[in-house]
Amino acid sequence: MSYIIEIENLSKDYEVGFWKKKKVRALDDLTLNVEAGQIFGFLGGNGAGKTTTIKILMSLMFPTTGTARILGSDISDFKMHSRIGYCPENPYFYDYLKARELMNYFGELFGFDAAKRNRKTEELLTKVGLDEKDWNKQLRKFSKGMLQRVGLAQSLINEPEIVFLDEPMSGLDPIGRREIRELIAELREQGTTVFMSTHILSDIEALCDNVAILRGGKLAATGNLHELLTDSGEKQSFEITIKGGAAENLKDSIAGIAGAIFAAKPNGANINVLDENDIEKVLHATREAGGSLVSVQPVRQSLEEFFVKQTE
Ligand SMILES: Nc1ncnc2c1ncn2[C@@H]1O[C@H](COP(=O)(O)OP(=O)(O)OP(=O)(O)O)[C@@H](O)[C@H]1O
Ligand SMILES: [Mg+2]
Repeated sequence: MSYIIEIENLSKDYEVGFWKKKKVRALDDLTLNVEAGQIFGFLGGNGAGKTTTIKILMSLMFPTTGTARILGSDISDFKMHSRIGYCPENPYFYDYLKARELMNYFGELFGFDAAKRNRKTEELLTKVGLDEKDWNKQLRKFSKGMLQRVGLAQSLINEPEIVFLDEPMSGLDPIGRREIRELIAELREQGTTVFMSTHILSDIEALCDNVAILRGGKLAATGNLHELLTDSGEKQSFEITIKGGAAENLKDSIAGIAGAIFAAKPNGANINVLDENDIEKVLHATREAGGSLVSVQPVRQSLEEFFVKQTE
């Protein structure tokens, strides 16, 4: 298997203090691989080292030790950087440029002719949902969410093979978040690999194939999101929802099933069982009590529970 991003034993110490004598280890021996064509979620609490990793990959700072390759090239290879895109954590641009001018500027950096610059600018500013009336407004007058959108548009101007997004949802309102989520999903459809850090776990659950979780600069967990949530040694259980029926009778029959939990609700009940074979027993008891089945669902731990366990 070949990987599109290969991170090998990456460490970073920041030198702090007046004499730069004190060292803060921000990243500690990180090894991580990412396959092409997926949305990869890069998670971790505040200060876990996500931005540091992304900045090293973007060659904006040097690692203390370790190496990384993107698209098969060392991260110091500038040719490779023209094939990827990057939207920083807090996009900050020249205040007095207008959105259109900024896009035009980045288009020029990539050597596009005027027609292509115009076409890409209009296509991308529309795509990120920036209102057309704001295209000719100076960026200093933009809100955080509007800047975030321009940052995203800018990161896509060269039709990158991989795009690195550091907290792409920050500053966006709920509708904006949904739009950007759709945009990210669309990128994957087109074959672009997305490497994104975010704290918004619902976005990760909705979008990501594989994830890595950092804790204190170290890798705490990595793998397929679905597998991580189901195979983490947690006991699998099943939630059975029923309606109608005499709750008291049902409760009594279920009391005989080991580990089963009964919770009455208006006009029905939720019953939790640990063993798949117990589902049939509950259904039998439900029918006896005159009730009917609404649903049976496997219960897996939420990403939030998993995340808290990994980062605590
Ligand atoms: N320029 C810097 N100088 C000194 N220390 C730094 C610098 N930048 C980051 N750090 C430290 O490195 C560690 C990792 O920071 P980083 O910004 O990579 O975290 P993060 O995972 O992106 O966090 P967040 O979720 O808050 O964005 C933190 O302890 C932080 O204090
Ligand atoms: Mg960060």
